[in-house]
Amino acid sequence: MSSNRSVTLSDDSNGKTWKFPVLAGSTGPDVIDVRKLYGDTGMFTYDPGFTSTGSCESKITYIDGDEGILLHRGYNIAELAERSDFMEVAYLLLNGELPTAEEKADFIHTISRHTMLHEQITTFYRGFRRDAHPMAVCCGVVGALSAFYHDSLDINDPHQRMISAHRLIAKMPTIAAMAYKYSAGQPFMYPQNNLSYAGNFLRMLFGVPAEEYVMNPVIEKAMDRILMLHADHEQNASTSTVRLAGSSGANPFACIAAGIASLWGPSHGGANEAVLNMLQHIGDRKNIGTFLSRVKDKNDHTRLMGFGHRVYKNYDPRATVMRKTCHEVLASLGIKDDPLLDLAMEMEQIALKDEYFVSKKLYPNVDFYSGIIFRAIGIPVSMFTVLFAVARTTGWIAQWREMIEDPQSKIGRPRQLYTGQTERPYVPIHARK
Ligand code: SDX
Repeated sequence: MSSNRSVTLSDDSNGKTWKFPVLAGSTGPDVIDVRKLYGDTGMFTYDPGFTSTGSCESKITYIDGDEGILLHRGYNIAELAERSDFMEVAYLLLNGELPTAEEKADFIHTISRHTMLHEQITTFYRGFRRDAHPMAVCCGVVGALSAFYHDSLDINDPHQRMISAHRLIAKMPTIAAMAYKYSAGQPFMYPQNNLSYAGNFLRMLFGVPAEEYVMNPVIEKAMDRILMLHADHEQNASTSTVRLAGSSGANPFACIAAGIASLWGPSHGGANEAVLNMLQHIGDRKNIGTFLSRVKDKNDHTRLMGFGHRVYKNYDPRATVMRKTCHEVLASLGIKDDPLLDLAMEMEQIALKDEYFVSKKLYPNVDFYSGIIFRAIGIPVSMFTVLFAVARTTGWIAQWREMIEDPQSKIGRPRQLYTGQTERPYVPIHARK
C-alpha cells in the first residue's frame, strides 16, 4: 500500500513544513495518510460530507465515477448483471472470489436454512399501526433481532460473525415481506426454501395461502438483477453508518438497523420512492419544462430526484442496466406505454441535453428507473426503499465484516471546527435579560 511518495504541507505564516506519506491502492486515487496530522501540526483536516476523505481501506467495491465503472471484487457490474445472480454476488462480496458450483450450492443451502424468523418476532408487527412506513418497521424489527439470536452476537468470534451475516442476508426478505403483508392486512407467507432467493421474496410479497403462487420467470429474473444492482456501493452514507456503528463493537443486527435508518433518507436510498412521487407530481410531459425550471432555480430547493451522484460524474452503470430491465419487465407484462416510464425517459433526454445538468455532471443514478419497475411489478411506493435495504444488507454485512477483521480498525471518532461560544461565566436567572 505504501508508495514511497510523500507530500509536504507548509504553514505560510511561519514557514513550518510537515511531510505526510502517500498511500497507493491497486487502482483509483492515491491517499495522503494524515493519521499523524493532528499530532504533528495541532490542526484537523476539515471535510464536511467527506467529499475528499477516504475513511477506510477496502477490497470489496471500486467505483470510477468519471468513467462510470463499478467493480465488485474486480468484476464489472454490467457483466455480473448479465451473467451472474444475486446469491453468487452475495458470496463474492462476502468471500472475495466467485464460488465454485459446489461452494455456490452450499451457500444457497445455508442461506435457505436461515430464512425463517423466530415465531415470537411476528408479534412485533402487531405493535405497529397498519399505515406505519415499512422502513420504520424494518428498522425496528432488524434492531430487535439481537434480542433473539444471542448465539451470533460475539463479533470477535469468526464463526458467530459468519452466522449473523447468513442470518441477516436470509431473513431480510422475510422481514421486508412481512412488513408489506402487515400493511396490506394479509396473512404472512412463510419462506419456501425450494425457491430462488428472489422467487422466495416475490412469493412472500405477493403469495396468499388461498392459492398456489405462480412465478413469472421474467419478474423473478428482474428482481434478482435488481437485488444484484443494489448489493453494495463502496463507502456510501448507509455503509459508512454501518461501519461507524460497528466500530464501537455494536452487534451486527444493531449495525444493519442503523444502515437501514440512514438509507431511508431521500438523498440516498429513499430517492427511488421520491422519483416515483416526483413523476406522479409532474403528471404530464407538458409540465416537464416548468418542473425543470424550478430545479434550476437557485431559490427553489426542488431537485430532479434520481439524478446526480457524489461519485458518478458520468452515467451510473446500474442505471443503464436498470433502464434495460425496465423495458424487459414492462414488455413481459404487456405494458405497452407506461406513462411514467415515457415521462421519465423524456425527462432524461431533456436533462441530458440541458446545460444545467451537463455543467454539473448530473446523470441518472440507480434510483431513476428502479421505481418504475417496482411499480410495474405491483410493489407499493412505500416498499421501494425496503427492497433497496434487502439488497444492500449483503454489502453492509460484507463491509462490516471487513472492518471487524481489519487489524487497523478502531472506533470512529471524528473531530470538528468549533465556532461556538468560548468559555464564559454562568449567569444566575435573576441577572439574565
Ligand atoms: C444513492 O453514495 C452512494 O453510492 C449512494 C448510492 C448507493 O448505491 O449507495 O449510489 C445510492 O443514494 C443514489 C443517489 C440518490 N439520490 C438522489 O437521486 C437524490 C437527488 N440527488 C441529489 O440530491 C444529489 O445529487 C446527491 C445527494 C445524490 C449527491 O449530492 P452531492 O454529491 O453532495 O452534490 P451536491 O448536493 O453538492 O450537488 C452539487 C451541485 C449543487 O449545485 P450547486 O450548489 O453547485 O450550484 O449539483 C446540484 C446541487 O444543487 N444537484 C442537483 C441535483 N443533484 C445535485 N440539482 C438538481 N437535481 C439534482 N438531483
